[in-house]
Formats: sequence, structure tokens, C-alpha cells
Amino acid sequence: MLTIKNLVKRFGDNEVLKDITMDVGQGEVIAIIGPSGSGKSTLLRCINYLEEPDSGYINLEELSIDTTRANKKDIDRLTRKSSMVFQHYNLFKNKTVLENVTEGLIVTRKMKKKEAVEKARGILEKVGLLAQLKQYPATLSGGQQQRVGIARALAMDTPLLLFDEPTSALDPELVKGVLDIIKSITELNQTMIIVTHEMNFAKEVSDKVIFMEDGYIVEEGPPKEVFDHPKHRRTAQFIHQFDENELEGIEI
Ligand SMILES: Nc1ncnc2c1ncn2[C@@H]1O[C@H](COP(=O)(O)OP(=O)(O)OP(=O)(O)O)[C@@H](O)[C@H]1O
Ligand SMILES: [Mg+2]
Repeated sequence: MLTIKNLVKRFGDNEVLKDITMDVGQGEVIAIIGPSGSGKSTLLRCINYLEEPDSGYINLEELSIDTTRANKKDIDRLTRKSSMVFQHYNLFKNKTVLENVTEGLIVTRKMKKKEAVEKARGILEKVGLLAQLKQYPATLSGGQQQRVGIARALAMDTPLLLFDEPTSALDPELVKGVLDIIKSITELNQTMIIVTHEMNFAKEVSDKVIFMEDGYIVEEGPPKEVFDHPKHRRTAQFIHQFDENELEGIEI
């Protein structure tokens, strides 16, 4: 449902995405892993045009975009096909939980307020936030704020969901609740790309893992292969480093 071909993105002289080609099937869950600065966020941001790529092709469902000559109409269509969950939630601070979720429905999707509220309530109930509808983000825990972020993305009913390290800003005790919600979404045949440092989670929920480094996709494959039998030395080193970090936390 998504094909990216030869995607390149530069910030000034810094070529951050060098030649990204990847395929995502309908209903697939893709986990992207890789060191800091490798271009993971930039790749997600290019897919919904929060960043404009310098060149390459993005095909999403029936849309085919040559990023060197995309017009506003193409870009609008593309951005409506995905929604993003951000590391730092990016909620509207001056809006309530409910308004954070209805905003996109009313403004972008032109839904009537009553209908938007009904829909938002249903989704907020699913993520366990019905009691917080009238609260402002500042009064919520990080885990609750991220659940609003997830509800907001879900409400848009986009064919593609993008998660950019959704749990890395959370206190450790709040991570599991958010991962459980994301896991429940993976069971809905929803196509998702998840950038994460949660290796066990990636291994458990993804159909395919992509290891990125220095603007390239170094390796990709089924999680069991990439994690247990990586083909490339850099992938092995990256994964091994996480094993050691995980061991460090264990008291023997
Ligand atoms: N808006 C920007 N302007 C200039 N440089 C940027 C911008 N956004 C990202 N970069 C640079 O692009 C490179 C890739 O950044 P990106 O955020 O995509 O990495 P990442 O893999 O998501 O890293 P992390 O794991 O730390 O989130 C980095 O060198 C970063 O400094
Ligand atoms: Mg990032």
C-alpha cells in the first residue's frame, strides 16, 4: 500500500536520507530501529510531508507522487492518508482532551461538531480516557497525554499510522500501558510504521524490521531474522548494544 523509491532529503549540506527504498503491504506493521541521527524521524516526516523530500517517489494507495514535482493537491491528498503520533505528544495545550481529538475531525475532515464529539468519545473510551475528557494536557501524566495523541491519530481513520518513538519520553512505569494500546491497534489490520527503541516490542508486534543507519536502510527482514540472525555487522552491533543495556538493568 506504500512504496517509497529513492527518497532523498537534505538539510543544507547534510544528506539525512540518502536513497531510501521500501515497501509496506496493506495491514503490515513495520518497526524502524537505528541509532540516533540515522534519519528515522525524518523518514516518517517525509511520508506525511511534515518535511519536503528533495527527490524520490512516494506511492500510497492510488496516489503516486514524484517529490520533485508534487503539487499542492497531491501533497494534500498524501497528508490525509497518514497520521502521526509524536514522541512529545504535540497536543494543543489550550484545548481539552476531547477538543484535541475533535479538532482534526472538525477542521480537516469538516465533520459536524456533534458527530466529531461522538466519534472522539468512542475512541477516548477505547484508550481509557473517558474520565479525562475535559482536562487540559498539562494536568495529565505523560502516558495519558500520549494516549490522547494516539486517539487523535486514530480518529482520523487514515490508511497509514506513523509512530515516532511513542514511548521514549515516558517514565518507565508508563511505557507498558501505551505499548499495550499500540499493540491492540496492530491487531486491527491497520498499516503502521513504528520508530522505536523498544526492541522486545518491535520483535513481538512487527511483521518487518528495518534497521537504518546514516540515512540508509542497512537491513530489513522479519523480526526473528533481523534480531536473532542479523546479516550485517552494524545491525548486530546495534542490537547487541541493547542486549547489554538490558542486562545492565538486571541485578544479579
Ligand atoms: N529540521 C532540521 N534541520 C536541520 N537538520 C535536521 C532537521 N531535522 C533533522 N535534522 C538532522 O537530520 C539528521 C537525522 O535526524 P532524525 O531526527 O531524522 O534522526 P533520528 O534517527 O530520528 O534520531 P533520534 O533517534 O535521535 O530521534 C540529524 O543529523 C539531524 O540533526
Ligand atoms: Mg527521531
